[in-house]
Amino acid sequence: MRLDQFIANSTELSRKEAKRAISRGEVTINEQICKGANTQLVGDERVAWSGTRLSLPGERYLMMNKPAGVVSATTDSDHPTALDLLPADITRNLHIAGRLDADTTGLLLLTTDGQWSHRVTSPRTDCPKTYRVTLSEPLTDAATQQLERGVDLHNDPKPTRPARIQILDGGVIELTISEGRYHQVKRMLAAVGNHVKALHRVRIGQVELDKALKPGEYRELTCQEKDSLA
Ligand code: URA
Repeated sequence: MRLDQFIANSTELSRKEAKRAISRGEVTINEQICKGANTQLVGDERVAWSGTRLSLPGERYLMMNKPAGVVSATTDSDHPTALDLLPADITRNLHIAGRLDADTTGLLLLTTDGQWSHRVTSPRTDCPKTYRVTLSEPLTDAATQQLERGVDLHNDPKPTRPARIQILDGGVIELTISEGRYHQVKRMLAAVGNHVKALHRVRIGQVELDKALKPGEYRELTCQEKDSLA
């Protein structure tokens, strides 16, 4: 979408007024003034007018406590999807920001806002995701250090970025990573000779899974939660 269109859609300004505001230097993209009304937004920019962060109106932002056995997809012919757990009238244009494996439980974000979900999931934005991981064996000190440095994954040319580890109990840890490669947590633990028995996402950035949500339940994000991931 062009910048002037985005400003007109997300404020009370007309397209003409949006162009004027842009040429007066009132609009920033990623904190840099941008005076090009025809600048194309690719999807992950932070756009602000006179210092106020803008987003398109009518967007929806939800968190769900994803149960096991549900796939993170909008449609699936064989399994129930996260969208199947929501009332039909709110699922229009909703997509998942950061998938989980079918057997992984916990925090799933769903939104209609493609720019926002891109910022949540893009490795470039470094948004941390925290998982509670139940292991088949207690994590050794050597394995902890390896994960904190970064490990080589099977069939993957690049080592993982350094992870943060908190040992909760012998076989249960909290692992924080800022990438989202395929089966990443399970593969990281396999790379250090362990095995993931259960995986539960507890946090994305500063957004924590609401403990009041039972598996399969959802709620709207608060503005503060939504903006904390902006
Ligand atoms: N890492 C995994 O291995 N699975 C998930 O569902 C999420 C992260």
